[in-house]
Amino acid sequence: MDKIILAIESSCDETAIAILKNNTELLANVVSTQISVHQKYGGVMPEIASRLHVENVGVVLKEALEQAQITMDEVSAIAVTVGPGLIGALLVGLQTAKTLALMYHKPLIPVHHLTGHIYANEYVSPLKFPCLAIVVSGGNTELVVMENHLSFKIIGETRDDAIGEAFDKVARVVGLPYPGGVSIDKLAKLGKHNYKLPRPIVDSKYDYSYSGIKTAVINLVNNLHQKGEEVIVEDLACSFQETAIDLLLDKALPAVDEFNVKQVVLAGGVSANSYLRSQIVERLKDKSVEVIIPPIWCTTDNAAMIAKVGSYLYEEKVFAPLSISANPSWKLEDFRKF
Ligand code: KG4
Repeated sequence: MDKIILAIESSCDETAIAILKNNTELLANVVSTQISVHQKYGGVMPEIASRLHVENVGVVLKEALEQAQITMDEVSAIAVTVGPGLIGALLVGLQTAKTLALMYHKPLIPVHHLTGHIYANEYVSPLKFPCLAIVVSGGNTELVVMENHLSFKIIGETRDDAIGEAFDKVARVVGLPYPGGVSIDKLAKLGKHNYKLPRPIVDSKYDYSYSGIKTAVINLVNNLHQKGEEVIVEDLACSFQETAIDLLLDKALPAVDEFNVKQVVLAGGVSANSYLRSQIVERLKDKSVEVIIPPIWCTTDNAAMIAKVGSYLYEEKVFAPLSISANPSWKLEDFRKF
């Protein structure tokens, strides 16, 4: 019998539903993004995000079923992002999933958002173990070693700001639109690394700190303004981007040897960064390790990645009761506890 997973993702500002058949055939992948609405506010407004999810989820579901040319009766299970994310936003997806599970008598598969970002890489190539996942998004900077499917060991993480958060805040300081990472990436291509920014020292081998670099940029901009000097935004974007990404890779890549890694994967919104994508390939070109770069559509939030993890969780019968609640600060290691 076919295994058909219908997955729902609504943890932030994308309402997404995907349908995956037998772990390989992506029958539908519908994403409704709210970015243009939140851009007016310079960041995601949680209350607006929840309301838009409510408005959009029915339309997205209808479109996904039409794309896939299937009925709900043919679906094997409903996978849904339970956390981490914005509580109001998560609840809309979860409530939709619970309703479908109840109405159509389907198991409910609870999915951790970050496992989805990691598994998005399976749309490029199967995961090979041990695997090092560099998880970089607006809310996370984590180095994860996987010894097998559905085994996640965090070997390092940020002590303060996530790398994407730093990109967003630096962009805001110089008046660039949300999402800041995209704007900085574009401008950095036109600039030079002419501003010297500090690299924070964190005693633990694989841990990060990004708040220092962000504050250094804010101070630099304020000082230049006070002196009546112009900020060369392209150079600032380039200097910040290279400092932030070089730090990320300098700390992450020694794990390749230490953990005898066969594959390195990028995951999360910041993995769209062009400097990160080229640098990781360049720095690992002489090593016998496979580097997987997710396609851009997989770096932003989508439900195809949730369906992929859901497909593996289905095999292990990781099903949640209908009493399950959303968990906005769900820890990756606890992905089986809900
Ligand atoms: O994974 P994601 O869509 O949302 C969560 O945080 O879960 O990541 C969004 C983050 C934002 O901080 C955004 O600025 C950043 O990813 N981002 C980028 C790029 N595209 C998106 N950062 C650097 N370079 C990019 N090209």
